Amino acid sequence: MSLQTLSPQTSQQIDELCALSPVIPVLTFNTLEEALPIAEALVEGGLTVLEVTLRTPVALDAIHLLSDKLPEAHVGAGTVLDQEQYKTACDAGSRFIVTPGATDELLQYGIESDIPLLPGVQTISELMIAYARGYRRFKFFPAEVAGGTAALKAYAGPLPDIRFCPTGGIRLETAADYLILSNVMCVGGSWLTPADRVADKDWAAIRQLARDTVFKLRSHQLA
Ligand code: 3PG
Repeated sequence: MSLQTLSPQTSQQIDELCALSPVIPVLTFNTLEEALPIAEALVEGGLTVLEVTLRTPVALDAIHLLSDKLPEAHVGAGTVLDQEQYKTACDAGSRFIVTPGATDELLQYGIESDIPLLPGVQTISELMIAYARGYRRFKFFPAEVAGGTAALKAYAGPLPDIRFCPTGGIRLETAADYLILSNVMCVGGSWLTPADRVADKDWAAIRQLARDTVFKLRSHQLA
């Protein structure tokens, strides 16, 4: 029996999202109150694709709130671990789903869902399994410990039509090293929301950090 495969349109949807921004901020909200000012600061700074991780109890409410109050942002859910969370995150308004790994269950649900999945992979075997199901766009996680830019360069040999959003350990200082690679679409990272700035409710600093990031990295993504 042949397995159901992903429509090429899904890779196109992911490409369109990733072309909007060189960085996808990975956001873990501790309170619902902080979600809107942080997201507004990032969007004003030029980062319009936002990944809200399902790591805190307020995450789904935050996705719902941002989808409602900040329609110019493309809000997705991260740290989605199973089909149930995938479905719940979509119901909350997520426009894309990011997973740290690629289980059969998640790959299958990504094929069935209208909301595109960016599955996480770390090894060439994980890539090959998802590749056989039609997936061509991946989160490379945790990027820095999984071989970083050297691993991505090596993956371009056997699998030249694959593109990545590397995430995990990437900072403003290292992001450009990834973005210049031909198989990198954009990077993900949590550096846009430093804990001390969030604790001080210093939204202006977060907006400035987003601006500086876009200014520094935009040319690498367009190259
Ligand atoms: C993720 O889930 O993608 C990572 O936690 C983000 O990694 P970082 O905190 O090292 O940027």
